[in-house]
This record gives sequence, structure tokens and C-alpha cells, in this order.
Amino acid sequence: VTSLPGARALVTGATGGLGYAIVRALAGRGASVTVSGRRAELLEPLAAEVDGVARPADLSDRAAVKRLVHEAGEVDILVANAALPASGELVGFSPVEIDRSLEVNLRAPIILARLLAPGMVERGHGHLVFISSLNGKAASARASLYSASKFGLRGFAFGLRDELRGSGVGVSAVFPGFIRDAGMFADTGVTLPRGVGTRAPMDVGAAVLRAIEQDRAEVDVAPLGLRLGAAFAGLAPELASSLSRRLGADRVSAGMVEAQRGKR
Ligand SMILES: NC(=O)c1ccc[n+]([C@@H]2O[C@H](COP(=O)([O-])OP(=O)(O)OC[C@H]3O[C@@H](n4cnc5c(N)ncnc54)[C@H](OP(=O)(O)O)[C@@H]3O)[C@@H](O)[C@H]2O)c1
Repeated sequence: VTSLPGARALVTGATGGLGYAIVRALAGRGASVTVSGRRAELLEPLAAEVDGVARPADLSDRAAVKRLVHEAGEVDILVANAALPASGELVGFSPVEIDRSLEVNLRAPIILARLLAPGMVERGHGHLVFISSLNGKAASARASLYSASKFGLRGFAFGLRDELRGSGVGVSAVFPGFIRDAGMFADTGVTLPRGVGTRAPMDVGAAVLRAIEQDRAEVDVAPLGLRLGAAFAGLAPELASSLSRRLGADRVSAGMVEAQRGKR
């Protein structure tokens, strides 16, 4: 198990709603954090706040992914958190937009792991955390592309965890449900049907700590009902999606698509 005080962490998507919470959680445990994202103007103050380092990078640019690893130097903890919502019907996406979502959400985390894991294995400790989503366990209309990357991350994380067993390097996937107050869902302003609960960004930060400190394969960040729903979707996907449609999933996803149109 990788201990956090003094560990060198790299967090992508640090400028996003959940990124801030993850960075603060890691720094609060004494990790030194390198923060990444495209918006340098947000990275700099965040880095200053946690006494970390800002490394701007566009993860849809393959050369920039490599450069980020080079600039970050030795990394004990990777939190691959950056993503695009990629919401909407597939036919509404151009091939360029499809590629971008796969590059940022799936390829970049895989390449970062590929480039950072050998150093961790050599040092005999380290942890790779992949931020997936409950959409990585339950797929639904208008999120096929997002689910493709988030299911992909889940499989990747689990397979890699198995490969690195005994090396001292842990691998975890974290599955947030609907997160309130900040982040790509909260930014849409969409209201959820009665009874569908949310979690706060700091709960995602705490889940990342738990994943590392307890070397957990998977950590869900959602109320029990949603967690059970996602598990049920794994067993009976068609029944699960017809139930969630009846609970109002179509209105929620249509609202999200409309609000997230600018993030493709
Ligand atoms: N919020 C939720 O309810 C929720 C639920 C389930 C899963 N998640 C997952 O949690 C993670 C964080 O999401 P969030 O809610 O914090 O979203 P967000 O507020 O939209 O932030 C997304 C982050 O990804 C970065 N990013 C986007 N495109 C990028 C690119 N081309 N290159 C580099 N960085 C890029 C953004 O940074 P720049 O714009 O500065 O580049 C930003 O920091 C994501 O993996 C998301 O899928 C979120």
C-alpha cells in the first residue's frame, strides 16, 4: 500500500469540479501534487494553494501526453481524472469529436499508466487511480460514447491491477454517480427525479484516498440505490434501462446533452 505523506501525485482534470476536490484531498494527506488540465489560468492558483506544480497539457494531443509524463518526473500516484462528457446521440458526433473523447477519456489514461507504471514497479510502490463513472457500469441512451470510455477504463483498471499484483503497485477505479455542487453534472443545472441522490465533490476526494490507502479495486461514490441500480444493470441491462427510463432517465439525459453541447 502506497503511503500518502510525501508521495508525488499527478492529477489530470485538476481544473474541473472533481479535480479540485481530489487535489485538495491528496494535498491534505501530505502528498505533493502536480496538477494538470488545459486551463493554465486555473492551474496556477490551484498549484499555489496546495504548494504543488502546474503542468498544463491538452490530453487530446498525443505529444502533449508524453510531454506531461516527462515534465512530471517521478510519480508515485496517478489520478487519471480528466474527461469530456461526450453526451448525445452517436449520430450527432463528428468522427473528430468521437476521436477526441476517446483520446482524452480512454487513451490518455492508458498511455499515462503505460509510461508511469514501470518507474513505480521499479521503486516497489505506487498507485494508479482511474476515475470512471457509474456510466462505466450501466449504459444508457445519449451516453454510448461516454460509456464506451468509462466501461473501457473499468476493464483496463481491473486487468492492469491483476497484472501488477505483487509488484507493490495498486490500481483502482472510482465510480462517481451524480455529483452535486461542482463538476460536469452539476454544471448542467439539470434536476434529478425525486429519490435519486447525489454525492459531493469531497466524497470523490475521499474515495480516491480510500482507493489508495486501502488498495481497493473499485470504489463507488453514490447512494445505495444508485449503486444497486448499477450492479443490477450489469446483470440485466435491458430491464435496468427500462426501469430507469420509467424513473425519468430520458428527461435527465436530454437536459444534460443540451447543457454539455459545448464540451465535445
Ligand atoms: N461530475 C459528475 O457528476 C461525474 C460523475 C461521474 C463521473 N465523473 C467523472 O469525474 C471526472 C471529473 O469530472 P468533472 O465532473 O470534474 O468534470 P469537469 O468539471 O467537466 O472537468 C473535466 C476536467 O477534464 C479536463 N479536460 C477536458 N478535456 C481535456 C483535454 N483535452 N485535455 C486535458 N484535460 C481536459 C478539464 O480541464 P480543462 O478544461 O482545463 O482542460 C477539466 O479539468 C471525469 O472523469 C468524469 O467523467 C463525473
